[in-house]
Amino acid sequence: VTAAISIQPEKAKPISDLLFGVFFEDINYAADGGLYAELIQNRDFEYALSDKEGRDKQWTHTHSWTLQGEQTAFSIDSTAPVHANNRFYAVLDTKVPGAVLTNTGFDGIAVKKGDKYRLSLFSKQRNKLLVKLVSKQGAILSQATLTLSSSNWKSSAVTLTANADAPDAHLELQPLQTGRLELDMISLFPEKTFKNRKNGLRPDLAQTIADIHPRFIRFPGGCVAHGDGLGNMYRWKNTIGPLEARKPQRNLWGYHQSAGLGYFEYFQYCEDIGAEPLPVVPAGVPCQNSGVGGGGQQGGIPMAEMDDYVQEVLDLVEYANGDINTTWGRKRAEAGHPAPFHLKYIGIGNEDLITDVFEERFTMIFKAMQAKHPGITVIGTVGPFYEGTDYEEGWALARQLKVPMVDEHYYETAGWFINNQDFYDKYDRSHAKVYLGEYAAHLPGQQVNLETALSEAIYLTGVERNGDVVSMTSYAPLLAREGHTQWNPDLIYFNNTSVKPTTGYYVQKLFGTNTGNEYLHGTVTLSDQQPALNKRVSMSVVRDNQTKDVIIKLVNISPFNITSDIDLGGLSVAGTQASLTVLQGRPSAKDVVPVVSTLTVAPQFQAAMPAYSFSIIRIKTK
Ligand code: AHR
Repeated sequence: VTAAISIQPEKAKPISDLLFGVFFEDINYAADGGLYAELIQNRDFEYALSDKEGRDKQWTHTHSWTLQGEQTAFSIDSTAPVHANNRFYAVLDTKVPGAVLTNTGFDGIAVKKGDKYRLSLFSKQRNKLLVKLVSKQGAILSQATLTLSSSNWKSSAVTLTANADAPDAHLELQPLQTGRLELDMISLFPEKTFKNRKNGLRPDLAQTIADIHPRFIRFPGGCVAHGDGLGNMYRWKNTIGPLEARKPQRNLWGYHQSAGLGYFEYFQYCEDIGAEPLPVVPAGVPCQNSGVGGGGQQGGIPMAEMDDYVQEVLDLVEYANGDINTTWGRKRAEAGHPAPFHLKYIGIGNEDLITDVFEERFTMIFKAMQAKHPGITVIGTVGPFYEGTDYEEGWALARQLKVPMVDEHYYETAGWFINNQDFYDKYDRSHAKVYLGEYAAHLPGQQVNLETALSEAIYLTGVERNGDVVSMTSYAPLLAREGHTQWNPDLIYFNNTSVKPTTGYYVQKLFGTNTGNEYLHGTVTLSDQQPALNKRVSMSVVRDNQTKDVIIKLVNISPFNITSDIDLGGLSVAGTQASLTVLQGRPSAKDVVPVVSTLTVAPQFQAAMPAYSFSIIRIKTK
């Protein structure tokens, strides 16, 4: 089979320069036990039975902690906490020293020889604490003594340096003196974090995400953003400030959320990787799936409290962008960032059903935001995707209010993505722009593979073609801890020592690192019209105005090796060498990675489109 490809640079149109970003949700242990670098699980003793569906008996305040040895009692108290938001703490009552309190982290604690770890805690009562990192085999990897010198809550810290690698160590704390000792916020933080940020992120995961070169990060959800009841909404003010003063809560995905990774850390990460922050706040209603009994959507925030809630959303803009003399800008400065975070986008609502309760509350927040912060682009939601309905109610509301951008979500089969490449061709350019905030292709009963990844790639060529109406896209979910996933597929799997990007990850990375701000019209004409080729070959061509690079993306999801004759339509090529990146393999392959080489190019040249491949040709032009 051959393909005649002709590019018509004269038919160029501007497209969004924010097209490829990421969506971080705290699902699958993506935050605690994931991107957030804390190594101690349940450091604040706030885990509770209610965190876990089915009320698993292990989910108590002592989760992940055990006392080993005798003559010491271990209990939980809440009489005089370190902070009202952090009510529970551990009490060790030692008659004869010897027993140790241990924490096993998240499936063990991985340490590296020579690396430093900061053990910090709040304590009440004078004592001495022997702290150790111990391997599964019982080897002492590091130890130090911490003198606790106050009868009131006080924080102390010591640095531990590991003398060997261990994938699954644990922490031991041994009071060396008798008597009662209260402990809370027992933290073990690696000194090495992404960009060396305090209270920072796991470097390997943070870098893998950064390598996508995302133009924005949407956070903190998804369903986590609006919660499964009024009391479970993600309230940004609960997640900033000193760690001991943050308000942990149940994560609706069936675990606990410490809020250690909170709004400040999200903004900081966005800045560190040059991505626009895109926070999503609840529209005053929780998730439609939480039902009335759970405080569901019919039970949105009572109208009498809505003014305060609207103010809370407005305050977020002040926290991100306000001068240090403003109330919330000052809090950002106190956290170590006097300069603004330059917030430009805010999502209001997540996949909410468009009910009267939603409309009323969304409208209040939207209008207040327009009036107070007209420079902020509000991204509305058009509800869950029901095929054939075209998100009618959500779009009707967006048109009525003139919402500048709306968020669409769909999780569909690979075949759906292949067959719906023209999804946005029909979209009316005179209304809101689209943020495709969540999507992923799956094959029923199978893990994601090259075929699902290529179906996403071919769909994204259609998105680039529609980059004048689609402004942003993000795959979902982003991260998943092995053995703790509530949702599949995900883009990047990980455990304590490895990061395992999927094939779909490479598609995201190839789009993210090969963007343009102009779409160049082009056509592909196949020599053969076999049914097996129907909609399975496509391309997109973009140009980066700054570098003048022209980027041709070719997708072939067929079993045929195709030779393409490419006519650049008069584009003036600089030099004869272009870079060629190819992702190729068996459709069921799960381990393919892109291979980079060079290709000789001219105004007309030939390029291969191997069976089941995604190729990117990057050409310098004059
Ligand atoms: O990405 C997983 C979930 O899918 C999100 O939390 C929600 O918005 C959607 O239903």
